[in-house]
Amino acid sequence: MTAAKSSTKQTAKPPKAAMATLRGPRGRILTGHRPTGPRHIGHLVGTLEQWAKMQDDYECFFLIADIHVLTTDYEHPKRIQSNIADVMIDWLAAGLDPQKATFVRQSALIEHSLLSTLLGMLTTVSRLERVPTYKDQIQQLNLNPSLGLLTYPVLQSADILIYKANLVPVGEDQLPHIELTREIARRFNSLYGETFLEPEGLLTKTARLPGTDNRTMHNSYGNTIKLGDSEEVTTKLVMSMYTDPKRLHADDPGTVEGNPVFEYHDAFNPNKDEVVDFKKKYREGKVGDVEVKKRLAEALNEYLRPLRERRAELVKKPDEALRILNEGTESARPLVEATTKEVLQKMGLL
Ligand code: TRP
Repeated sequence: MTAAKSSTKQTAKPPKAAMATLRGPRGRILTGHRPTGPRHIGHLVGTLEQWAKMQDDYECFFLIADIHVLTTDYEHPKRIQSNIADVMIDWLAAGLDPQKATFVRQSALIEHSLLSTLLGMLTTVSRLERVPTYKDQIQQLNLNPSLGLLTYPVLQSADILIYKANLVPVGEDQLPHIELTREIARRFNSLYGETFLEPEGLLTKTARLPGTDNRTMHNSYGNTIKLGDSEEVTTKLVMSMYTDPKRLHADDPGTVEGNPVFEYHDAFNPNKDEVVDFKKKYREGKVGDVEVKKRLAEALNEYLRPLRERRAELVKKPDEALRILNEGTESARPLVEATTKEVLQKMGLL
C-alpha cells in the first residue's frame, strides 16, 4: 500500500499549504457527515471519538457533504447553511482539530462533482440500483427516486478517491458504498493505468447506541440527546427514556439486555462497579428505574461537560467554525485539482 512508502519521519508539523500533498505515516483518511442538523451522542460515540483519536496517526480530511444533503432534502435549502455551522461547531467541540486535520466542504470544491460525473461513466445503472442504502431509502421514504439519489454513492466514491485516501472510517451501513468505491477504483486503474488506491472501510468498534425510545437514534425521530442540549434537557430526556416495558413496580425483576438505559450506562458511566451492581439489583427487582436513570443522567452530563464547555465557547464566535471550514477547503484545493487533472488527462479530455 502506498501509505507505507512515506516512512520518512515528520519531525516538525509541515506548513498548512504542504499538508495536502503529504501523507501521514500511516496513511490518509477521508470521512464525513451530511450536515443534516446538530450532532447527537450517537454520532459522538459512534464516529467522532474515533475520528478524534485518528488525527494523531493519520492525515485526516473531514468532509461536510452538503451536496449529499440535497439527495433527500432539496426542498429545504434554508436549513443547510445553519446545519453546516452546527455540525462544524459540534465536530470541533468533540475534539476534531484544525491543527491536525483538514476540514473540507464538498460544494465548494467543484472537482468532487466533476470527478463524480467522470466516474459515473464507469458505473452501470443496474449496479447502483443494487446498492442497499438506495433500495432501503426508496422503500422507506416511498419516493420516486431522483437521479441524484441513484448516483449518491458515485459522488461519495469521488469524495474518497479524489484524496487518494486509503482508509474510510464509517458505520456499517456505509460499507456497500466503500465496496462500490473499490470497484470504481479498480475499473479506472485497469482502463487507464494505476491512479487510485482501493480504500478500505474501517468499522467503528463501539456498538450502535439506540435512541431514547429504543429505536435507531435519528434526529428525525426526536429520540436523540444532542451534544448541545443543556444538562437540564439531558436529564429530562434520560428520565423519560424507554426502559423495560414489562416492569411495572420497582420490585419486579427487570431485563437488562437490550435495555437502552443500561446500554447508556455501559457507554457513559465510568464507574463500572456501580453499573455491574445496578444490573444485578435490577434483575432482582431491588432497584427502581428512577434511581438508575438519575445516576445515568449525572454520569452522562459529567461525560459531556468538557465537550459542552468547549462548545459554549465556539457558539460565542459563530464565524470561527466557518472560517476553519473555508480555510481547510482552500488548503485542500491544490490536491483535488491535481487528481482531477490527472483523471481528465487519462480519460482523454486534456
Ligand atoms: N454517506 C455518508 C453518510 O451518510 C456521508 C459521506 C459523504 C461520506 N461522502 C463521504 C462518508 C465520503 C465517508 C466518505 O454518513
